[in-house]
Amino acid sequence: MDLQMMLLDVIYFILRGSVRIVFRPRTKPIDGELVLITGSGGVLGRLFALEFTWDLGPRLVDVTNRVEVYCTADEVRTDLGRNVTMLVNNARVVARERLMDCPDELVERTMKVNCHALFWMTKAFVPQMKEQNHGHIITIASVLGLFSTACVEDYCASKFSAVGFHESLAHELLTEEFDGVKTTLVCPYIVDTGMFDRCKIRDEVALFLAPLDPEYCVEQAMNAILIDQPLVCIPRTLMKAQLSNVVTYRFMGSDKCMYPFIETVCLAYRPSCCHRTDYIEKKHPLLSQ
Ligand SMILES: *[C@@H]1O[C@H](CO)[C@@H](O)[C@H](O)[C@H]1NC(C)=O
Repeated sequence: MDLQMMLLDVIYFILRGSVRIVFRPRTKPIDGELVLITGSGGVLGRLFALEFTWDLGPRLVDVTNRVEVYCTADEVRTDLGRNVTMLVNNARVVARERLMDCPDELVERTMKVNCHALFWMTKAFVPQMKEQNHGHIITIASVLGLFSTACVEDYCASKFSAVGFHESLAHELLTEEFDGVKTTLVCPYIVDTGMFDRCKIRDEVALFLAPLDPEYCVEQAMNAILIDQPLVCIPRTLMKAQLSNVVTYRFMGSDKCMYPFIETVCLAYRPSCCHRTDYIEKKHPLLSQ
């Protein structure tokens, strides 16, 4: 029975995918949404802000500092009297030095900005989205989160982490039936923002795969976001064979396989794992959980 359902689902997704190439689905209106973009001082972030016509003044928050993230989240809610309904996790850095020569702090910074910040942003903003069953979480990862290359260990590790985190969160929302909270994972090829300037692939290939124009990249990402597409690779030729991922996962029970694990761990270690007295900053409720 489950096998039949999975096959039907696969056929459905293939058909839907083909139909969507010809008839593009209607884009959703986003007026009335409160959009928060991290890293909006950068090239891509600024373009995203323009696309969303985000006209509120930026707040300076260190996304790697969870105390700051949680407190600012509260401030935003109090000051604006509204919940953030669209979260664009866009902030990213790269160490740009070989691992062996790279100061440890720089390696850590890459993980903190590109990966750890996703944890804090999610904890700060996603509970309200779930309660209202309305929202959209957008993670700007990279094709370097799907495929890797030499000498950017910090960046690849952080982007693979970002992809893994995003996909796990997306599975969680789906299995718990928060179908109103959408997710979009954006995996662009190298964008011409100066971040990876001078990187170079084989000339013949570079003809087809030049670094992306930032505006093109954001435009393609917006096209995907506005139709609630779960994954977009830019350019599309880099699309990982992800089509039936969700349905085959569901069939195999892979999407939920960690639930018993989480429960066991939490029950077995409840006294120590849920009672963390070692936090100095106990003021914020999220920090004392
Ligand atoms: C924000 O979300 C919380 C939690 O669901 C809800 O109680 C509150 O009413 C929401 N605020 C607004 C302005 O929608």
